[in-house]
Amino acid sequence: MTLPLVELHLHIEGTLEPELILELAARNNVRLPWGSLDELRAQYEFTDLQSFLNLYYRNLDVLRERIDFTDLTRAYLERARTAGVRHAEIFFDPQAHTSRGVPLLTALGGVRDALDAAVDSVGISTKLIVTFLRDRPAAEALQLLREILASPHRIDGIGLDSAEVGYPPELFTEVFDLARANGLRLVAHAGEEGPPEYVWQALDLLGVERIDHGIRSLEDEALLDRLVRDRVPLTVCPFSNVRLRVIDTLAGHPIMRMLDRGLLVCVNSDDPAYFGGYIDDNLTALDREFGLGPHRLALLARNGIEASFLTPAEKSTLD
Ligand code: ADE
Ligand code: ZN
Repeated sequence: MTLPLVELHLHIEGTLEPELILELAARNNVRLPWGSLDELRAQYEFTDLQSFLNLYYRNLDVLRERIDFTDLTRAYLERARTAGVRHAEIFFDPQAHTSRGVPLLTALGGVRDALDAAVDSVGISTKLIVTFLRDRPAAEALQLLREILASPHRIDGIGLDSAEVGYPPELFTEVFDLARANGLRLVAHAGEEGPPEYVWQALDLLGVERIDHGIRSLEDEALLDRLVRDRVPLTVCPFSNVRLRVIDTLAGHPIMRMLDRGLLVCVNSDDPAYFGGYIDDNLTALDREFGLGPHRLALLARNGIEASFLTPAEKSTLD
């Protein structure tokens, strides 16, 4: 894409391509249940969010050493550059690694090594957003946040992800209060599979500045009024929505309805190694499906810039 793109909803663990999984398994002597790329690829059929998460967490077992996290992050940044990404605000799930015995500083340090080199190596500025797994205890998230704040590694924000239904944002108010008190930016996945009520809670109880997905907000007119009035960005991920069966087909995606309603939506890839493509692939497919044309494509790109946590001066260099 020639448009200057900003990516705001990207799980670094969701960029772990099947080829790299097999390469890291060999490097780290990890035994996988599948012997070939084809066998592994055959697992990539999902019925809902949980069926995807089961594979996503399982594949992470190949990430063991600090360099593995650096290689993963560098591979994403190189692919993002070919997509035209100029700035990326990247999610990272520390609990997906600490829970299987990888030290926090190994995983976080490895990601940071690649991000710290990104402006020079690929010309992409980055921010790092630590996402807490909402299906694990809030006390664990709180403890981890304290460790991260005491570590030498910089993070820019926190978010919430993983299985949504049954794990409302209200469980995490203390975590978000601590993050806010430390100057971190705040986002949360809400309204992906969960109800509009979770979007309200993310806004009113956690004080988030962006909603990740938020697609089920369309079921609540009062919520839509609020999102439009406050220009709350929604980081929408079309390929993800189709592959996780939040919607039936791309043709049925409500992106046009969301734009027409005046919502500040931008397009993102979520977990591109799992859902069939990167940010440029998502935009190209939407353009083909809906005939977005240059004006709406540019609007989506501008929305991403506006929704980012860059300063106004930094934003103006991307416009
Ligand atoms: N973790 C990685 N991708 C996710 C998604 N789409 N929703 C919730 N948690 C996730
Ligand atoms: Zn996501």
